[in-house]
Amino acid sequence: MHAIETKDLSKHFQVSLRRKVVGLDSLNFVVREGEVYGLLGPNGSGKSTTLKLVLGLFQPTSGEATIFGMSVERVASRVSVGFLPENPYFYKYLTGEETVRFFGRLCGMGGKQLEDKIDELLNLVGLEVHRHRRLAGYSKGMLQRIGLAQALVHEPRLLMLDEPTAGVDPIGSIEIRDLIIKLRKMGKTVLICSHLLDQVQDVCDRIGILHYGKMILEGEVKDLLARKDQFQFISEGLPESARGKIRETITQSGGKVVMEGNPATTLEQLFLHTVQQAEQKKK
Ligand SMILES: Nc1ncnc2c1ncn2[C@@H]1O[C@H](COP(=O)(O)OP(=O)(O)OP(=O)(O)O)[C@@H](O)[C@H]1O
Ligand SMILES: [Mg+2]
Repeated sequence: MHAIETKDLSKHFQVSLRRKVVGLDSLNFVVREGEVYGLLGPNGSGKSTTLKLVLGLFQPTSGEATIFGMSVERVASRVSVGFLPENPYFYKYLTGEETVRFFGRLCGMGGKQLEDKIDELLNLVGLEVHRHRRLAGYSKGMLQRIGLAQALVHEPRLLMLDEPTAGVDPIGSIEIRDLIIKLRKMGKTVLICSHLLDQVQDVCDRIGILHYGKMILEGEVKDLLARKDQFQFISEGLPESARGKIRETITQSGGKVVMEGNPATTLEQLFLHTVQQAEQKKK
């Protein structure tokens, strides 16, 4: 049984009388229990739509989805899910502690069990010292962390995070990344939507790339990034003049220089390449 499984899941939006927009087009994918899965894709490719369909916030046009084997049409499927939306909305006049308590109560929790949980979560997300401050004074990174604490309050087995580091600076992003690694160690299953590819590369076991609502590439991060037919040297202090000789040696030996230049984030290259190819196919 998978944490998430979708079968031909589609969502079309009727934006005007004559115009339909494809949000998601026949998506088949699974998120295995205990893994961190990264859903990537350009703006408008269907990442948030996928999360909303799996959460039962959107009615699919066709197809189906299950959470731990239970149809998402059933409200009970949501009990095991924690969700951090793209633009979380919090009551600014509540303190960090009150916010987590508020969401805990919404989930039917209370008493010592909830108070202990609040302590544990504020500690986990590193907001212990700011627990009595109002959210109005929180930074973007702190708000995302309180959002994570909120999503975890009812001890869900599955977490869905929509752009958890959107608008967060690099240091805050690293903190959130480390938190996700901690959650994986705690045995949680995590589905993340993100554009921040190097971060995804560090935390995800598998990724899928969406493009116009279709899954155009999927696999284990390790496998996707290893190109067995190619070989690269990364050098330091190589003088300009030596490059020509290296190129010559490669071509004389029957090889081909596919790329040269300063090394970049590898997942980033993969992402750009895949999206560009799909773009060309569309034309
Ligand atoms: N409620 C809606 N009404 C109409 N169209 C929608 C709605 N929600 C999403 N769409 C459309 O569906 C497509 C996919 O949108 P979605 O929000 O899933 O993209 P995304 O991959 O999350 O993008 P981003 O990276 O910008 O968050 C887009 O073309 C979008 O305009
Ligand atoms: Mg989105």
